[in-house]
Amino acid sequence: MYCWSLMALIVSLDAIINKLHPYHKILDSSLWNDILTKSNLPNCTIFSIILPPRNIPHVVESSPSTHCQEFNTHLNSIITSLLYCGKQHLKNKEYDQALADFNKLLDIDSKNVSGLNQRGITFYNMKKLQNALIDFNKSLKIESNNLVAIKYRGFTCRMMGKCEEALEYFNKYLQINKKDAHVLYCRGETYYFIKDYEKALNDLNNSLKLWPKYTRSLNSIGSVFFTMGKYYDAISYVTKTLEIDQNNCEALKIRSSSYYQLQRYHEALSDLGMILKEEPNDKVALCNRGVTFYKLNLYENALVELSKSLEINPNNETALIYRGIAFYEITNASTSQNKLSSRWLLNNHINDYNSAFKNLTESLKIQPNNVIALTYRGKIYFNVDLYEESLYDFKAALKIHPNNTMALESRSKIYFNMSKYEDARVDLNKLLELNPGNKYAVELLKEPELSRCNKKRKISD
Ligand SMILES: *[C@@H]1O[C@H](CO)[C@@H](O)[C@H](O)[C@H]1NC(C)=O
Ligand SMILES: *[C@@H]1O[C@H](CO)[C@@H](O)[C@H](O)[C@H]1NC(C)=O
Ligand SMILES: *[C@@H]1O[C@H](CO)[C@@H](O)[C@H](O)[C@H]1NC(C)=O
Ligand SMILES: *[C@@H]1O[C@H](CO)[C@@H](O)[C@H](O)[C@H]1NC(C)=O
Ligand SMILES: *[C@@H]1O[C@H](CO)[C@@H](O)[C@H](O)[C@H]1NC(C)=O
Ligand SMILES: *[C@@H]1O[C@H](CO)[C@@H](O)[C@H](O)[C@H]1NC(C)=O
Ligand SMILES: *[C@@H]1O[C@H](CO)[C@@H](O)[C@H](O)[C@H]1NC(C)=O
Ligand SMILES: *[C@@H]1O[C@H](CO)[C@@H](O)[C@H](O)[C@H]1NC(C)=O
Ligand SMILES: *[C@@H]1O[C@H](CO)[C@@H](O)[C@H](O)[C@H]1NC(C)=O
Repeated sequence: MYCWSLMALIVSLDAIINKLHPYHKILDSSLWNDILTKSNLPNCTIFSIILPPRNIPHVVESSPSTHCQEFNTHLNSIITSLLYCGKQHLKNKEYDQALADFNKLLDIDSKNVSGLNQRGITFYNMKKLQNALIDFNKSLKIESNNLVAIKYRGFTCRMMGKCEEALEYFNKYLQINKKDAHVLYCRGETYYFIKDYEKALNDLNNSLKLWPKYTRSLNSIGSVFFTMGKYYDAISYVTKTLEIDQNNCEALKIRSSSYYQLQRYHEALSDLGMILKEEPNDKVALCNRGVTFYKLNLYENALVELSKSLEINPNNETALIYRGIAFYEITNASTSQNKLSSRWLLNNHINDYNSAFKNLTESLKIQPNNVIALTYRGKIYFNVDLYEESLYDFKAALKIHPNNTMALESRSKIYFNMSKYEDARVDLNKLLELNPGNKYAVELLKEPELSRCNKKRKISD
């Protein structure tokens, strides 16, 4: 349909063959073969090639140069048709067909820059980046300032992770064409990737001056500000995107993460809900909603979301840790309320502690140095009186993060229970150093064993 010109092409080729056959000896023989074989036209045309009932004497009347001219005209119309058809296929994402057209075109004229560029763009879309680069390189060898080739070389290098080279080509492009909002956005994104935030913001800002509603640039500025810890600025930019496109998931993701960082958990939850309405199985959004519920002390809700996200991605350490600590908190809450002993817990909440323990242990296999997981597993051991195991986890946690109050409190209690008063005192003093009003430390230091120890220490000093 859109390739209406294919019929014209066939007719043209037939006409060429009719008129040119007598001269094929004076044409480059390989070119002739190319036309016949590589054009790969439908069988009906081929028949007319094989069986030409041609009036040769009639054709010979005109001069060879006239015919060559005519031949070239026809060839150009074939190239034009192939370029047109290929572009249509490319537009429809029919990459194999597009490639076939551009290959034919380049068989006829290997130096046609438009053909090279279009084939390069086709390869780029097929993620055959190396092939794409080869075509753009050829284009640039023929026409060193070809903007399409320069731009796409930049895109290709960017996609290959060759940021410096990509920047070089974006620079070259923008020197010639300063007003391209998309290339400014791409260069800005590249600067963001290599952590040059100032330059990134500058480019993205300029891209918005050209195209104020370019949501990709708005979101990208949001990401840069988020990465820089400027959460209010991030929110302000992506909110502009959401005014243009209220379901833009990228913007919702950046905004929900910014709200989370600002501890505005209800707003974060609202945005996460919108993302999950659009993409119900987005594992990152599910996990983040679980963690946000956890922060609001909504442990049952947290468990539901985290379990969903783990069904999709069973090894995500964040989800495993937070499910572990949500299980822990559920158990902890029921103990505190009932003021029951750890032994009772071990017997009656065996499933919660088991689940918490299993999930935390699994997460520690993936991330052995995760302080939260170590601390909570230590607390579980502590709550069921497995002091040796508990100490092991607290020591590991405190080695990474010496100011971990939860670990210090529990460890001092264990040392105290084991009659290691000196060690208990060190932890308690550390707690007081972090917070002179720490009630736990103040109370425990009143124990006779510890105060005696304190006195002894003073005397020996
Ligand atoms: C051309 O004819 C050959 C032999 O009959 C057949 O195998 C082939 O599929 C035909 N091609 C087209 C494009 O019709
Ligand atoms: C490539 O082919 C197209 C279509 O025939 C033509 O317009 C263009 O000028 C050609 N380019 C070169 C560099 O030959
Ligand atoms: C493209 O050309 C550049 C130099 O301009 C060269 O470094 C690169 O290796 C070439 N890439 C390919 C795939 O030919
Ligand atoms: C972006 O441009 C505006 C003016 O259009 C300016 O007020 C703002 O400070 C610029 N921001 C950055 C990050 O460059
Ligand atoms: C786990 O999920 C979080 C989102 O909550 C994500 O940031 C992180 O990259 C994921 N980790 C892995 C290993 O998939
Ligand atoms: C356990 O419950 C108590 C009392 O409700 C609370 O103070 C504490 O923060 C909870 N969490 C942990 C990890 O102990
Ligand atoms: C985490 O706990 C849940 C609930 O008990 C359990 O079904 C799941 O197998 C645990 N995950 C791992 C990796 O241990
Ligand atoms: C240590 O803990 C065990 C189990 O809770 C308890 O029976 C024992 O009395 C404690 N010892 C000290 C010195 O606190
Ligand atoms: C631990 O706390 C002390 C005292 O408040 C502080 O000087 C130190 O920087 C903290 N260390 C870490 C790793 O947070």
